Amino acid sequence: MAGQGLFLSFEGIDGAGKSTHVEALAERLKAAGRAVVLTREPGGTPLAEKIRALALHESMDPLTEALLMFAARRDHLQQVIEPALARGDAVLCDRFTDATFAYQGGGRGFDWQTLSALERMVQHLPAAPSQLRQPDLTLWFDLPPATAAIRLAGARLPDRFESQPTAFFEAVRAGYARRAAEDPARFVRINADQPRENVWQAVTQALRGKGWLS
Ligand code: TMP
Repeated sequence: MAGQGLFLSFEGIDGAGKSTHVEALAERLKAAGRAVVLTREPGGTPLAEKIRALALHESMDPLTEALLMFAARRDHLQQVIEPALARGDAVLCDRFTDATFAYQGGGRGFDWQTLSALERMVQHLPAAPSQLRQPDLTLWFDLPPATAAIRLAGARLPDRFESQPTAFFEAVRAGYARRAAEDPARFVRINADQPRENVWQAVTQALRGKGWLS
């Protein structure tokens, strides 16, 4: 019988520096003998990666944007996340639904209740429809948007989100804060405004605290 699956998500505004830590954590867990699925949103399946390309590069209204994020998520859950958790794997997901609340809800100002309705529709568990699939733990890499903007400057050609002004990321950050306040047991806030080594220590500490890393 498969062991207990583990679902971790990683969040933060663009330029928070989370992706290198997600990759390092995947290696660390593999070295500890765990089967790991490293994936991302929007994306993670051939269909969801096509949706990602649209969402990041084509102009559209906020409802279309929110629907695309959830459509990609539905396919990702069905094809990758649920099967991996059923096998007992650790799923490390670079962004998940909190990003939709932060970016489409906070950043774009799209209605929070509508996002909650879409979340319920997409993430309900077939075996227990009143329960939603949520990460076991969400690491929120938090830092001031002005600092993130300096990190992003000069990076690759920005997409539709990365090219937004600092005020947009202030609103995204507020969206993450609201989401964390709604489910504090699931969130760990990582101070991403410090040297990479210190951020890494905070990441591993969060997992040790749960008994998922020795
Ligand atoms: P990434 O560059 O970290 O992979 O994320 C892609 C962009 O998509 C990032 O700017 C955040 C944005 N995004 C949303 O707006 N809503 C979502 O639901 C997700 C998952 C990402």
